Amino acid sequence: MNSNDFNKASMGVIMFLLLVIGASNFSEVIFHQDALVANAYPIDTSSIASASVADVVVDMGPSIAELMQTASLDKGASVFRKCAACHTKDNGGSAKIGPNLWNVVGKDVATSEGFGYSEAMLGQEGNWDYELLNKYLTKPKDAIPGNKMVFVGLKKGSDRASVIMYLRSFSDTPAALPIVASTEASLEATAETTSSESM
Ligand code: HEC
Repeated sequence: MNSNDFNKASMGVIMFLLLVIGASNFSEVIFHQDALVANAYPIDTSSIASASVADVVVDMGPSIAELMQTASLDKGASVFRKCAACHTKDNGGSAKIGPNLWNVVGKDVATSEGFGYSEAMLGQEGNWDYELLNKYLTKPKDAIPGNKMVFVGLKKGSDRASVIMYLRSFSDTPAALPIVASTEASLEATAETTSSESM
């Protein structure tokens, strides 16, 4: 930036500030308001300030990383029977009603060979990381509106965690397991999961 540019830039900033000040004075003339004595909608920030990261994680429910700590491959294989009507899992397996799921964990969304994805799925950014899989398998219809997987979803976190653990095994080089943010949070979360899903 040469000094001429700098002058232009600072002139711009000054003009902008004058405009803002002008506009706010102007609106005060029209909508004259008495100064508010106190914040009209006081926001209690004391709880936010004191909450630790672990509390926040637990408040949102256990993360997929936490759920996967207690996931089992056997259980995943049995949950996957629901998926197998529409998906193959082997390397080079053909597409059925849904795409082949070999190497799905970590793979870019909607990139399985030989499958015609919906516009909705093609429009979904990113890759199938654990968070996206967890969200999608909870309620496919809501996670990616307009996608054509006709499946209600897996309500139980433990079912999702186990089936995702199983999906991870559809690879010669399985993706790294997700990292749990805090062990304390994970212990609390596990206790919560077992008490709410002990059937
Ligand atoms: C009734 C058939 C059906 C069932 C059951 C089903 N799916 Fe699907 N699945 C599909 C279809 C169809 C798509 C493609 C969606 C689109 O293109 O909009 C899909 C897409 C996917 C994708 C995205 C793959 C990619 O290449 O981007 C994943 C992951 C997936 N399913 C996992 C599962 C899992 C896990 C289950 C079982 C818990 C399951 N599906 C059950 C039909 C099904």
